[in-house]
Amino acid sequence: MVVLLLTPRSDQAELWRRLLSAALDGIDFRVHPNIGDPAHIDAVLAWKPPHGVLATLSRLKLICSLGMGVDHLLADPLLPQDVPIARLVDPNMIEQMSEYVLYAALHFHRGFDVYQRFQSERRWEELPLPHTAMRRIGIMGLGAIGTDCARRLAGLGFSVRGWSRTPKALKGVRSFSGRHQLAEFLGETDILVSVLPLTRQTARIVDARLFAELPPGASFINVARGELVVEDDLLAALDCGRLAGAMLDVTVSEPLAAASPLWAHPKVRITPHIAGLTNPVTAVEPIAENLRRLRAGLPLRDLVDRIRGY
Ligand code: GLV
Repeated sequence: MVVLLLTPRSDQAELWRRLLSAALDGIDFRVHPNIGDPAHIDAVLAWKPPHGVLATLSRLKLICSLGMGVDHLLADPLLPQDVPIARLVDPNMIEQMSEYVLYAALHFHRGFDVYQRFQSERRWEELPLPHTAMRRIGIMGLGAIGTDCARRLAGLGFSVRGWSRTPKALKGVRSFSGRHQLAEFLGETDILVSVLPLTRQTARIVDARLFAELPPGASFINVARGELVVEDDLLAALDCGRLAGAMLDVTVSEPLAAASPLWAHPKVRITPHIAGLTNPVTAVEPIAENLRRLRAGLPLRDLVDRIRGY
């Protein structure tokens, strides 16, 4: 089986080669752009491949995303239509995402954003602290990541609700679904967490109208995709005080331009898309399992529904 690694992270190529060769017998592992004959490639491991490259691989049978999101693949206008795409579902990555969300939720819950400002003013002052069970955290997106975040936040004692495209039943989590329940969900959300996939339906969903539905003084955490958010509307909501703060791991254009007002905004915390990092050591197993299944002609796991967009 010929497997091609197609990622800008060329520093990880040797690690991938070692791990995949250990997980699968008889693998011919190639690294883009040294692909040899494109007609020999059976499967690719891809992160943000240049548009059009996948279309040149005439024997391709499987595209394995090296990220949990697949919008980077579906954005390729020349993406082969009949080749299955598998998301990366790595429990270690899900745990990392949840860690980030827990940190960010506690940051806003315990007023660390405000205490940071107080410290810069040498101000010793206590803020009111709502009981954890009264703090309402709303998670947009209840896939593998959102579900894990919801479970862990509920475990800390927060009042957790979730919103998703279709109804989901999660123990201890109040669930809302569809556009018709979005306003109700937002109206009872003090800390909004976005873990939505980026699709045609979700692009720019976090806009002025959405912020206006949140209780005044809510906070916003985005660990999904920058393009879910209308950044001008986010800045306006922060400036007028509707939003108390935002913690953003993702932005519309990445890396975030030095001139972006988000960098220096006093109510914004930025991290450089590090909430969940693909670690080949743990990501190799779900990928190798799919390659084994492909070889054996068995049904593949974690397949993307192209119509749904994730
Ligand atoms: C990262 O953003 C991913 O999709 O895994």
